Amino acid sequence: MNDLEKVRDWVRAARRIALLSGAGMSAESGVPTFRDAQTGLWAKFDPQQLATEAAFRAKPRLVWDWYAMRRELIARVDPNEGHLAVARFQAANPGRLTVITQNVDGLHQRAGSSGVLALHGNITEDQWLETPRSCCKVEAVEAGRPPSCAGCGNLRRPAVVWFGEMLPPDALARAEQAAAECELMLVVGTSGVVYPAAGLAYRAPGKVVIVNPEPTELDGAAHVVLRGRAAEVLPQLLS
Ligand code: OAD
Repeated sequence: MNDLEKVRDWVRAARRIALLSGAGMSAESGVPTFRDAQTGLWAKFDPQQLATEAAFRAKPRLVWDWYAMRRELIARVDPNEGHLAVARFQAANPGRLTVITQNVDGLHQRAGSSGVLALHGNITEDQWLETPRSCCKVEAVEAGRPPSCAGCGNLRRPAVVWFGEMLPPDALARAEQAAAECELMLVVGTSGVVYPAAGLAYRAPGKVVIVNPEPTELDGAAHVVLRGRAAEVLPQLLS
């Protein structure tokens, strides 16, 4: 029996599966990853200049425009066969598979996945930079890059988790629980270098399987490493 068949059997047998996804999950939709040496966002841009609260406060327009560019790209792409296979599995097997994603692109959700735990937020949404006052009304923001409150100037910012920020506590707690309770964890398309998300792989008490064309920091925690692309491997595992 080859590794793919072995993991297919584990999928069939597992009552609870957690799927932890990263940027590689969306690579075949045309969304760049972060750490690819050539095409990765962090190969071209300095995260400290773009993905921190300090960067936004120093250069709000630059940071807003960079996120707006990514948002526009994401609006033009579609979920791939990997996202769709996950969503189909969930629909056919209610309650058996929890999606935990580091991706902010919303593609799991657009594919039809339910209950997605988006640990790093959602790039299609905004939130207030400062705690909103009574004048801060989302429906009455002043247009701009970034938009702001006409009353107090509070800025809108992308609803993503920046470096140095806490993850949404509720999503993180649910993800930790899903990891701790699963019999099988599929770790798909993540380099496994960003914590606390990567640490979830070490919480899984059962089998851990990596799906990734390249080596990752989590390979040592895996029972099986499937060297392949998400959109190719997931439909075979989850059909
Ligand atoms: P990375 O860019 O660090 O890693 C992407 C991974 O996807 C790599 O291991 C690739 O080998 C793999 N990959 C590429 N194409 C793939 C494919 N078609 N199928 C499967 N895997 C493929 O992205 P993340 O691990 O998601 O954080 O990065 C983690 C976090 O770092 C991101 O959420 C982001 C970033 O800074 C925030 O924005 C807070």
